[in-house]
Amino acid sequence: MNLDKVLIVDYGSQVTQLIARRAREIGVFSEIIPFQKAKEYLSYHHPKAIILSGSPASIHDTHAPQLDTNIFDINVPVLGICYGQQAMCHFFGGTVETSDKREFGHATLNIVKDSEIFDSFPTKKEISVWMSHGDKITQIPKNFTVLANSATTPYAIIKHESKPIYGVQFHPEVTHTEYGDILIKNFLLKIAQCKPDWTTQNLKDEAINRIKTQVKDSKVICGLSGGVDSAVTAVLLFKAIGDNLTCIFVDHGLLRQNEADAVVSLFKKHYHIPLIHVEAEDLFLSQLKGVSDPEKKRKIIGGLFIDVFEEEAKKIGGAEFLAQGTLYPDVIESVSFSGGPSVTIKSHHNVGGLPDRMNMKLVEPLRELFKDEVRLLGKELGLPADFVDRHPFPGPGLAIRIPGEVDRESCDILRKADAIFIQEIRKHNLYNDIWQAFAALLPVRSVGVMGDGRTYDRVCALRAVTSTDGMTAKSYPFTHDFLSHVSTRIINEVKGINRVVYDVTSKPPGTIEWE
Ligand code: XMP
Repeated sequence: MNLDKVLIVDYGSQVTQLIARRAREIGVFSEIIPFQKAKEYLSYHHPKAIILSGSPASIHDTHAPQLDTNIFDINVPVLGICYGQQAMCHFFGGTVETSDKREFGHATLNIVKDSEIFDSFPTKKEISVWMSHGDKITQIPKNFTVLANSATTPYAIIKHESKPIYGVQFHPEVTHTEYGDILIKNFLLKIAQCKPDWTTQNLKDEAINRIKTQVKDSKVICGLSGGVDSAVTAVLLFKAIGDNLTCIFVDHGLLRQNEADAVVSLFKKHYHIPLIHVEAEDLFLSQLKGVSDPEKKRKIIGGLFIDVFEEEAKKIGGAEFLAQGTLYPDVIESVSFSGGPSVTIKSHHNVGGLPDRMNMKLVEPLRELFKDEVRLLGKELGLPADFVDRHPFPGPGLAIRIPGEVDRESCDILRKADAIFIQEIRKHNLYNDIWQAFAALLPVRSVGVMGDGRTYDRVCALRAVTSTDGMTAKSYPFTHDFLSHVSTRIINEVKGINRVVYDVTSKPPGTIEWE
């Protein structure tokens, strides 16, 4: 892309991605690369600024991530954050000492020297910043000067006396740091003179042009899941290549109420995108019969999905490309210090997980974007806001919200309860405050009394969580009145449910879905 960009060199911090987000919020295109690749990257690219991330490592560790000296050879402004500052300091001849006492949490920043990095800061000189470090700079290199300190950190912000090289010990990229976003903005726009030209409009135009250049006159197939990522991918492709795109929507019968109709009418009737709607409910439910193990259920659904998709793709014939809605967080090579693959908690299935044997070239127009940027792009492309802002929905659908065996009747009961819950959440204007909300149908019966009669029906569990990325989550604090109201509606309106409970488990230790 022909945009000014900032290179973010990743040394393994948990919050490296937040640096990229801050840069993009400011309007500057950013790329994250692992520290080992800095030299290679710089031989092909010309960033206008470089930011060095933090790290869980100490620069004195035997295998400490190394600062690549090429970073300073290209003469662009550099900002070192935490470990980035320490590595820089060490490189220029300062002293960094190991400490077994971490400084973690808030510290008060005291500005001691004016600098354009503080432009637009409030007149008050004491600013609350977020620290998270063990090692400490005890002597800054020659030619460096101190711009700010804190009670425990004499070198909270340092700067080279004649070059645009800055180091900060705290984390300006996290929202707990006051004016951290302004500091990054000053570094990118004032010091590095990056143009803030990363807008959704040019993002859209650029993405469409790139697809045209990559795909030319070839045919492309794209799997639609009903989710935002695949929808935005499909609309972008359609704008770029028109009828050379065919979308395949595999309806496994495990979707939410009216979901299949909404997807089909949006794409076929509204956008006139060629769409194959495969109704495969019978196939999926017959294969799931008698299966109650969560992992087996996930594997069956994932496998069948691929079979059906492949079969339909073959029927279309001649498609050279497969479009996928892969996002940036899925592709960046983050630096792992934990060693070894992480434990598989659940086998994930989504439209993106199509097998190599399909032997097609990939088009991934969202590879450089975060989820919220995809949502903005979706709106720019004219997708309705209530579609674009929808809560995430898992590939295996309702099957993982019905613990135990799945059958058509359970799916129908669950769809109705889920629809009531979501309807009430929307009615109370809570939908956008919640990351994800849904109902689950438990394989438990309980005794109840309705009218004059005894009931012996299923239990419905409601789940609603707040989260930023789905990796951790907290249950949403509804009022008791709201929950009672939803419970009453579900029990009165959905035959088969006579008890409603609310799941207050956080993640961890729970997961968001029940299976
Ligand atoms: P868990 O249950 O692991 O869910 O806490 C985290 C987020 O991931 C979604 N999820 C999936 N999404 N395919 C998907 O596309 C899957 O197999 C899958 N399993 C869970 C879940 O809805 C939540 O947003």
